[in-house]
Amino acid sequence: MSRVALVTGGTRGIGAAIAKALKKEGYKVAANYGGNDEAAAKFKAETGIPVFKWDVSNYDACVEGLKKVEAEVGPIDILVNNAGITRDAMFHKMTPDHWNAVISTNLGSLFNMCRPVIEGMRARKFGRIVNISSINGQKGQMGQTNYSAAKAGEIGFTKALAQENAKVGITVNAICPGYINTEMVQAVPKDVLEKNILPQIPVGRLGEPDEIARCVVFLVADGAGFITGSTMTVNGAQYIV
Ligand code: CAA
Repeated sequence: MSRVALVTGGTRGIGAAIAKALKKEGYKVAANYGGNDEAAAKFKAETGIPVFKWDVSNYDACVEGLKKVEAEVGPIDILVNNAGITRDAMFHKMTPDHWNAVISTNLGSLFNMCRPVIEGMRARKFGRIVNISSINGQKGQMGQTNYSAAKAGEIGFTKALAQENAKVGITVNAICPGYINTEMVQAVPKDVLEKNILPQIPVGRLGEPDEIARCVVFLVADGAGFITGSTMTVNGAQYIV
């Protein structure tokens, strides 16, 4: 029987590419989304992938949402924590709301999503968790103290959870995309993107969502059981770790 995969923020951008790629590989896929009903309905109609709406920054909402996914699709074998937001501002202009929204959505969600599924994965002695971090968690980014902190936190979380679950067939890995051609990057002011970001990418272009999706497919395979606690860097050589 095919394994069940859940992708958070899975109806747009990198998440949608991941969900589609996993479906193409034969997994049973479910996609969570947070707010954009129109995009989710379009994604569902185009892909046939069921969509489930809840806020990953809320623990109780995750518990309830995960129950629904497991009832309708099956116990979760593969969890891709992709949902994330930006609230960019220089730190001296950043508000508590900017800070809290990004920390709770991008980092808090890892606790909220992994905690309810980890016991089932441990009992079944199989699990694949992939956390979509960012180049900006590795190198820091001006205008993103909140986002850089959350994304760096995801890497630490990944390493700790990987160690705890290595003996029970569960792998936990992080992927650090660079600047990928999505709405999130398109929202960066055009002059900043063209003047400050693109010239820093030796490959000479933004990445494409499919270029991240293929990394997820690689990491979640049954044959990838020895790859755990790792951080996969996918940024066109913008920052080499
Ligand atoms: N890299 C280098 N320099 C940058 C920069 C960046 N990413 N962002 C801003 N700067 C520079 C600006 O060019 C400007 O320099 P000059 O004064 O020499 O022109 C200076 O910083 C101040 O910038 P602003 O005038 O724009 O200041 P602001 O207060 O109006 O806005 C900002 C600040 C909100 C941070 C805005 O510049 C911005 O949105 N920058 C983009 C930040 C960024 O890179 N975000 C990544 C989003 S994509 C993402 O997060 C996905 C991922 O994982 C990679």
